Parts: sequence; structure tokens; C-alpha cells
Amino acid sequence: MVEISASVLDVKEEEATKILYNLEVAKIDYFHIDVMDGKFVEKNTVEKMNEYGNLLKQITTLPLDVHLMVEDVETYVKLYSTIEPNIITFQLEAIQEKEKVYKIIELIKSNNCKVGIAIKPGTDVKELYEFLPYINMALIMTVEPGKGGQTLIPETLRKIKILKEYIKQKNLDTFIEADGGINENTIEEVANAGIDIAVVGNGILKTENYKETVRRLKSLT
Ligand code: DX5
Ligand code: ZN
Repeated sequence: MVEISASVLDVKEEEATKILYNLEVAKIDYFHIDVMDGKFVEKNTVEKMNEYGNLLKQITTLPLDVHLMVEDVETYVKLYSTIEPNIITFQLEAIQEKEKVYKIIELIKSNNCKVGIAIKPGTDVKELYEFLPYINMALIMTVEPGKGGQTLIPETLRKIKILKEYIKQKNLDTFIEADGGINENTIEEVANAGIDIAVVGNGILKTENYKETVRRLKSLT
């Protein structure tokens, strides 16, 4: 069964505490925190995600899954380490040199955190291969990073299948997360492609009964 990481990106500020509580009660497995710096992507969510991150640190025992869509990865790794996430994921496209990627992997690990690397829909999955033995998770973006509520790009599923096959062949234990446009209509296909964790934002937040939605999402995988 696939685990669910609930994206808090589109959680409304007025009702944040209640919604976050309801998500936890609905038996999600992680809270997914989408940090955007207004540079790597247009939107800037730093303040909102700081607020939600700190709130979650106080009110939940669930693991926090931080997704950095930022240019200056090191600065944000340091900033978000303070909320003691279970995992910090950064976008491979934000880093130019391979040595720097390894440096960031070490930095995240030194904060007692698991490490994830994300790739955009247009980035070849092979770009990830050499880093897989050193990280815990590969995040395949199933929409262009930048906002919630988009439609899943079907071609990204092929990348998940190729990556899954490669991980199996090489006997690695890297897990795969998919992020963007996942809901009750798409989760089955994404799960079949080989993921371990599905990020779901609007696919839960736009529904009436979170508990029922999470149950259904899981039962489809
Ligand atoms: C997109 C974010 C995703 C996304 C998930 O840049 O990384 O986490 O907001 O939200 P939904 O499930 O609404 O696509
Ligand atoms: Zn995300």
C-alpha cells in the first residue's frame, strides 16, 4: 500500500489548525511542506510554510516531508532543519555542479534528516542515477513545480517505471515519491508505476470527508 504525504501548500490560513488536525485524524502518513522561494518558481511560500512548519512541529507527531523548490538550497536546508523534518528533498535542477549535490546531501544528513532529490517533468530520470546510493528518496514531479491543483502529466509515469526498474536491478533501497495532480482518479495508475509515497494536496483538501478520502486513496493502491 502506498503512503500518503498530505501537501499543506493550499491549506487556508484562517482554518489551518483545524485542517491540519483533520488531516492527521484522517491517517495520512506525512505532512508535505512545499517551500517556494519566488526564484526557482514564481510563487513565494516561505513565510506561510515557516508558519505551518512551526505549527506542525508543535501539534503533530507525524513525520514532516519538506520539499524545497528554491535556488539557494543550503540556506533553506538550515532554515527548515529547525522544525526537525523526517526528510528534506531538494530540486536537482537548482544545483549546477555534482560536487555541490554531494555537499548538500551531506549537509542534510548532518542534520539527522533523510535526503530526497526531486526532478521536474522535463528532467531525464538518468540524472538521478549516480546519487541514488547516497539518498533515501527520489521525488518524481508529476506536474511542473510551482502550484497546487494542476493536472498530472501522464508521460511522467514512464519515468517512475524506469526508475523503479533501475532501483530493483541495482538492489537499492531508495524509495520513490510522486508529487502533483494525484487524486482518486489518478492514484491507481501512479501506484502501479511503482511509487512508495504519493503527495496529495487538493485531492484531499477539496473533498468533504478527509478520513474517507484517505481511506479510498489508500485502498486504490
Ligand atoms: C507543486 C507542489 C506539490 C503540489 C501538490 O509544486 O510541489 O506538492 O502542490 O498539490 P496537488 O496535489 O494539489 O497537485
Ligand atoms: Zn511538493
